[in-house]
Order: sequence, then structure tokens, then C-alpha cells
Amino acid sequence: MQFIDLKAQYRKLKQDIDARIQTVLDHGQYILGPEVAELESRLADRTGSKYCIGCASGTDALLLAMMSLGIGPGDEVVTTPFTFFATGEMIALLGAVPVFVDIDPETYNIDPAKIEAAITRRTKAIMPVSLYGLCPDMDAINAIADKHGLAVIEDAAQSFGATYIGRQSGNLSAIGCTSFFPSKPVGCYGDGGACFTSDDDLARRMLEMRNHGQDGRYHHVSIGINGRLDTIQAAVLLAKLEVFDEELAARQQTAATYNNMLRESVRTPVVPEGYTSPYAQYTIEVDDRDAVQHALQQAGIPTAVHYPVPLHLQPVFAHLNLGEGRFPHSERAGRRVLSLPMHPYLEYDQIEHIAKTVRHAVANVTTVTK
Ligand SMILES: Cc1ncc(COP(=O)(O)O)c(C=O)c1O
Repeated sequence: MQFIDLKAQYRKLKQDIDARIQTVLDHGQYILGPEVAELESRLADRTGSKYCIGCASGTDALLLAMMSLGIGPGDEVVTTPFTFFATGEMIALLGAVPVFVDIDPETYNIDPAKIEAAITRRTKAIMPVSLYGLCPDMDAINAIADKHGLAVIEDAAQSFGATYIGRQSGNLSAIGCTSFFPSKPVGCYGDGGACFTSDDDLARRMLEMRNHGQDGRYHHVSIGINGRLDTIQAAVLLAKLEVFDEELAARQQTAATYNNMLRESVRTPVVPEGYTSPYAQYTIEVDDRDAVQHALQQAGIPTAVHYPVPLHLQPVFAHLNLGEGRFPHSERAGRRVLSLPMHPYLEYDQIEHIAKTVRHAVANVTTVTK
């Protein structure tokens, strides 16, 4: 059994993906070829954003978003410590300081009620993360940002396809950033990402900055990066977009089946009324994670932990002096979360087998510790 079965997906889409790649090989425009613009237009339409800027990874998307806002040394960006490292890493890479705010333990997302206390005169932006595919309460976050004159960047790396009160993730704030890492809800065959915005000026700056700050060939108006999305990756994504809605429905069906089979035994994901999730991860919480993970491994079921160590406890952020106990909900989640296999090609029998094994493991662990 695979944690994410990319080969099953390829078997299904082989003809389209191969044809799309072959077209690129035939026309040979590997850098910013026509597929990139086609994909950007399709993704902008889908999210409802005026602009989509394809880029080389979700990490670069975050970088470009912050660069376009002029974030740099001396600035602060408010974010969550319970996320993949890139979120805090890109803030620090620009010389700014990540200011962490604990999560709401129900949703694992930044707790909007705690954001205002973290804002200082150095704060430039708030960067919430739509973790596991679930958006935070973006209206509440945007309202705080408006009050203080801050930008909001949604780290939507895990949430392409999610909706929040009828709106698409990526188009919920000034800038949304997503990732097309292969295991993401829409993944390419390498690295890829995109920024979304409806602001003309920010879009122009991100477009320039992803291509060495050029506003025309060999005419550089800002310091940028080589952060372009490869044409071949765009071609793969165009083929995958054709089946994305079908895959999204399959993911949500898988999550519903897991929920029904597991909710009596473990804490299953919360998706509040008015939200939908693509379930980039299907993540449960258990008391003795090591034991449960071991039991699943013995039964041939792969699992993963997203993420064991919150950012404030990472060695590289030790200088921020945010020790153990500073963000208790994030730390507790880091000790307890466990992601189960999740992809659109999981079969009912497999889900049943996984759920049964989880239930047995949890019951055994409880018996032993009682
Ligand atoms: C929350 C979050 N932010 C940023 C990233 C970075 O994306 P990428 O791996 O495409 O650079 C990821 C990807 O794993 C992520 O999960």
C-alpha cells in the first residue's frame, strides 16, 4: 500500500499526460512556454483571482509574495508554528522575523483570536497556513489585517481546491501561494507552485521577480530570482486539472468513509460548516502515536507525521528564545498527529483495512497503558 499512489494516477492519466509532455518536446519552449500561460489562465479562472503567477515551487511562491510586498530586514510576519518549515524559513530568508501565534487545537490553524496581541509596529504581514487543506477563518484574519494596515498571504500550499464560505483557497486574501509538489492535491512531476492575486501591482512585481526582476528582456528593474515554473510541469498540471474535480470528490469520499469508521476511536479531522477540504492530509490524533504508528507499519500501512516539531522549537529558530511550553496547542499537536494514506485511488477495502487496524491499535495501546 502507498501513502500517496502517484503511479495509480499516472496509469489512469497516462495518455493525456504523455501527449501533453510530447507537445512540449515537439515545440521545445521549455522556459515559459505556452503551457505556462495556459495553466495560469485556467488556475486564475478556477480560483476567481485576476492573476495567477506560476513559479518553481511553493517555497518560491511564498518568497515571491513577500518580495513583492517589500518584506525584508527589520520586518515581522505573523504566522503559525505548526506548519511545514518553508513558511517560517522564507520569512527568515528575507531577513524578517517570523512571529509565531499558537493554533486553534480544533482546526490546527492559526488562532485568529490570538493574532492581534502579536502585532507590533514592525509587522508587515500575516501569513496563515491552510493546513492539511483546511482554510483558517480568513475573514477574521483579513479584518485584523485591514485594521492594522497589513497584507495577508495565505500559505495555500496544501489547500488548492479548498473552499471557504463559497470562495476558493488561494483567492482569500491579498496573495495566495500554492504548491504543486508531487504529493499535493494537484501535483506535478517535480517542483512547482503558483501565486494568486487580484492586485495589478503585486501581480506585475511577482511576474518580474520570478524572472530575475526583468520587465523586458535583459532589462532588470528589481532584484528577483530564477523562480519560473517549467513548461513540462505546466503540461503535466494541465492534464491533471482535467480530472481534479473527480479526484477532489474521491478524496472527500475517502475522508467521509474514514470519519465514519474512526470517529468513535480517535480524533478525526474537523471541517467547520461552510468549509471544504481537499484533504492534502487525512490526519488523526492519537495518545500513543509511536505505538499506533508501529502497529500500522507492522500491518504494511504507511503513515506520516505532519509535523513533529513546531517551528519555534527548531534549532535554527533557537535565537528567538521561544522555548517548550510557549505554544502548547502546537506542541501537543506535534506529539499526537498521525496522517493516514490519502489519495483519490484508495479503494474501500483498503480504507476499511486501515481503519480496522487503527481501531485495534488504539484499543490495544489503551489497554496496555490502563
Ligand atoms: C504549508 C506549506 N508551505 C510551503 C510548502 C513548500 O512548498 P514546496 O515544497 O512546493 O516548495 C509546503 C510544501 O510542502 C507546505 O506544506
